[in-house]
Amino acid sequence: MSNTAIINGGNRITGELVVQGSKNSVLPILAATVINGGINIIHNCPLIKDVYASIDILRSLGCVVSIEEDTVTVDSSNMSCDEIHQDLMKEMRSSVIFTGAILARCKKALISTPGGCELGPRPIDLHLKVFKALGVDVKETHGYIMLDGENTHCANINLDFPSVGATENAMLLACATPGTTVITNAAQEPEIVDLQDFLNGMGANVKGAGTSTIEISGTNDFCDVSHKVIGDRIVTATYLSAAAVTKGSIKINGINPNHINAITDMFSLCGAKINKGEDFIEMECKTGLNSVSCISTMPHPGFPTDAQALACTVLSVADGTSVVEENIFSSRFRHIPELNRMNADIITKDKLAIIRGVSRLKGASVTAYDLRGAAALIIAGLNAYGTTTVSGLEHLDRGYYLFENQLKNLGADIVRE
Ligand code: EPZ
Repeated sequence: MSNTAIINGGNRITGELVVQGSKNSVLPILAATVINGGINIIHNCPLIKDVYASIDILRSLGCVVSIEEDTVTVDSSNMSCDEIHQDLMKEMRSSVIFTGAILARCKKALISTPGGCELGPRPIDLHLKVFKALGVDVKETHGYIMLDGENTHCANINLDFPSVGATENAMLLACATPGTTVITNAAQEPEIVDLQDFLNGMGANVKGAGTSTIEISGTNDFCDVSHKVIGDRIVTATYLSAAAVTKGSIKINGINPNHINAITDMFSLCGAKINKGEDFIEMECKTGLNSVSCISTMPHPGFPTDAQALACTVLSVADGTSVVEENIFSSRFRHIPELNRMNADIITKDKLAIIRGVSRLKGASVTAYDLRGAAALIIAGLNAYGTTTVSGLEHLDRGYYLFENQLKNLGADIVRE
């Protein structure tokens, strides 16, 4: 499959779908499968590039992994290695999440710095601080990081920033560390709650996920586990954005609406009609969109940085001027020059994107530089007059499963070259 999509804009996006499982939930859960030394059955697993990269890491550690439709089974009983090759580390950001899990099982780990979307510097200092707080000896040399967890102990850990990954690494190591560990200023994303549920399913004792304080009582008595991954809230936001920019209507099943209140609040401010059920969201955008004074990305439950590019696309065709403020990453506006090539009217200044809405975008050839930017440019193409060519879709495939096919089923005129 090529890395380019061709979209002829103007078709309304209407219909119904079941959203894929959450990328940012399944990745730490796949890492956690090494902890129990047993069988881990994971349902609703999106078969995306980052999942395959995680499976490559699990197999390199000696785990046996099988895939049957959207169920992935990991047998970690014969795990035989505690090192991750740097080529595998470089594949994605969440390779770093394996560190806490490997330390929990093997008491030592050898990694190198992870890869991931280029959103500005992506340090792992908070992760290393967590490991040191838990008694791990950390040595960095020649790009490698050697971690010795022979003397790990419980701790009270206060995170300088509610880092999602650092919170997850703390949970993964602490669940197998004797005593009670308390994490304060923890990330509160729904994916953290899903990881807690998975760990408790294998016999861990974690509570408080979803709040800023998580308490973990360590154990070494784990069991097999079966778990269904939550729906992907950012992919849900992506399909809502597709309906929003084409005056369409959509119903998305398999999502907990409470996971995306900040996003649905934005669409309500834009004038969309929204109906929420226990496990679905419906949205109708038959009229044009209103502008929104300011959208500021914040840690959950604030507006998610992963939906920032989508917000820029939606507000670029809203009536009036909107401001989007990116507070989480220092270089996450690379989709803006590409949107301006499509006749958007956006200027950026430091953390701010000032968006003057236009009536409609114009087709152009644009390039995606990261995962969510790729999705946002495709959504822009659905609105634009004429033909839009989006290249760089190797980024998209890291997080979206059968995206073009789903959009086609909803009425889009889109082909993957
Ligand atoms: C997770 O990344 C997500 N990835 C990201 O989604 C998401 O954007 C991010 O959380 C914020 O919500 C996965 O879950 C796989 P962070 P993570 O640690 O854990 C700084 C996507 O599109 N920081 O919460 O890497 C960091 O530079 C991806 O699906 C440190 O300074 O995010 C950033 O500015 C993109 N030192 C901020 O904290 C550290 O040790 C938030 O990072 C760690 C992070």
